[in-house]
Amino acid sequence: MHTIDAGAREARKEGDPVEAASHPIAVRGLTMRYGPLVVMEDLNFEVHTGEIFVIMGGSGSGKSTLLKHLIGLKAPAEGSILFDGEDFLEADAEARKGILRRMGVLYQNGALWSGLTLAENVALPLEEYTELDARSIAEVVSLKLALVGLKGFEAFYPSEISGGMRKRAALARATALDPEVLFFDEPSSGLDPITASRLDDLILQIRDSFGTTIVIVSHDLASIFKVADRALFLDIKEKTMTAMGTPQSLRDDPPSDEVRQFMTRSSAVQSPEGLQRPPDAPAQPRRDEP
Ligand SMILES: Nc1ncnc2c1ncn2[C@@H]1O[C@H](COP(=O)(O)OP(=O)(O)O)[C@@H](O)[C@H]1O
Ligand SMILES: [Mg+2]
Repeated sequence: MHTIDAGAREARKEGDPVEAASHPIAVRGLTMRYGPLVVMEDLNFEVHTGEIFVIMGGSGSGKSTLLKHLIGLKAPAEGSILFDGEDFLEADAEARKGILRRMGVLYQNGALWSGLTLAENVALPLEEYTELDARSIAEVVSLKLALVGLKGFEAFYPSEISGGMRKRAALARATALDPEVLFFDEPSSGLDPITASRLDDLILQIRDSFGTTIVIVSHDLASIFKVADRALFLDIKEKTMTAMGTPQSLRDDPPSDEVRQFMTRSSAVQSPEGLQRPPDAPAQPRRDEP
């Protein structure tokens, strides 16, 4: 399903086959900062091919900031982030565009263009990054919308559909270029639990059908337990990652009280309070929204 050309693939293979095959993303000694505010220090982890990797932590711990670093929107204060062994910061403009093309991003707010139909929204990345003619683009658009259960909604505007459908339309747009890595910031925010659970099913389906590597920022425990292969915990007090593992292992054998508290809110998910989510963190970058 990937559309990157064979030449680029070969070049990466020659470079470092093992690294390229198993770690599409590697984070090394990353410190993240906004001016004097140190958000997190000394983050070290890899995301494996085909896994669903969740970045979790309390509100304000730096989840969205980490996502911004992973997609090249923010530069590390220290350390580096390698995408298939290549440092985004050191890449030239052409190489950066190549890296970006292989990523799909779903922002917290969905961020569809409100003045465009669903079909026009999904067509945008295809128009920008491919040489496909209008007819081929229309075919891909219909296919992508059908994959997320929105067949027949091509001509609808975002305001005419529900919040869950908007998320799915945004997902269709994020997958338009058959990304190797798909990033989500709080996919379930603003959705009721049943709609959120259906979106989780869709995320699992995309990974299982296409082998897409998926990185999700989330503090929604029901979703974390449902989809995560591995999860990383950002500890706001320690200002670094303090846990990494399967959600089950982090719940059953938490390395700290903070992790225990975070992971055992799961028992509250069934209760009414458990369904309430903390208020959303600061506004996300909305570079793809009018
Ligand atoms: N653009 C920004 N400028 C300055 N500080 C920011 C900015 N964005 C986020 N922060 C701060 O960085 C910290 C981490 O924020 P964020 O990554 O949004 O956390 P999370 O997504 O885990 O809720 C918070 O203290 C937040 O106030
Ligand atoms: Mg956030």
